[in-house]
Amino acid sequence: MQIIRTKQELLKQIEACKQRDLTIGLVPTMGALHAGHASLVKRSVNDNQVTIVSVFVNPTQFNNKEDLAKYPRTQEADAEMLAEIGADYMFAPTPEEMYTAEEMNNTFSFDFAGLDQVMEGKMRPGHFNGVVQVVSRLFYLVRPDRAYFGEKDFQQLCIIHHMVERSALKDTFGSLKIIDCPIVREESGLARSSRNARLSATEKKTAVNISRVLFESLEWAKTGSVSEVESRVIDEINAVSGLEVEYYEIVDRTTLQPATDFHNAIGCVTVYCGPVRLIDNIKY
Ligand code: PAF
Repeated sequence: MQIIRTKQELLKQIEACKQRDLTIGLVPTMGALHAGHASLVKRSVNDNQVTIVSVFVNPTQFNNKEDLAKYPRTQEADAEMLAEIGADYMFAPTPEEMYTAEEMNNTFSFDFAGLDQVMEGKMRPGHFNGVVQVVSRLFYLVRPDRAYFGEKDFQQLCIIHHMVERSALKDTFGSLKIIDCPIVREESGLARSSRNARLSATEKKTAVNISRVLFESLEWAKTGSVSEVESRVIDEINAVSGLEVEYYEIVDRTTLQPATDFHNAIGCVTVYCGPVRLIDNIKY
């Protein structure tokens, strides 16, 4: 596997692949790779002749400087894992390589059709602007046939679909297909996340209650209303010492607007486990 640090080198390699008519799969990541990422990369290796994994902690999507500073960075281990799985390239640029000083201030603007006004978008102003900024740039550089995203960041996935399939930018991405990949969980049920690396052993045990309550709520949804299930999920998670729900919303999977029943609905949760902010979701 080759590690690429510059856009120029990336463009050279992509051009060589395009000349040979090879199909390209892109897996955008921020590194600190775990089994969840591995499942995306394996899928890409299986579907495409060439797989490129970007490893870039994108500063423009962090609205909290401390969160950016504390985001785990494990590039050597990431490279080893990717080589083992069979990725062809790891693209790991510096922020200065990706952005001009002006771009670094997140001046990018994009019409989200309201998808950024709820849940993560409401709690983290500018976050999705930064995500769309970096993902669209990666798409322009790599010109992939397929790009792979995890369902754990469900709102992000929804916004990427909107960008590629319905937004004003849609014609600029060629025949790119976005591939949704299911959440990968630990045996305990805890959703795999790079942020889990910041949990102490005790916090990790506590965090298991998030997915436990979400799975139990599938039963409650058989008899309760949307608002009853929402309240019960929040109450049951908050009842666990060490957990604090930031939001739990049951929304339509396409529009992300509040659901009125459980048809095509998904429940998205954000919970503080000690200082670590974790997200998870469940489809009804
Ligand atoms: O999901 C992530 O890790 C990031 O938001 C992404 C898509 C790699 C963009 O930086």
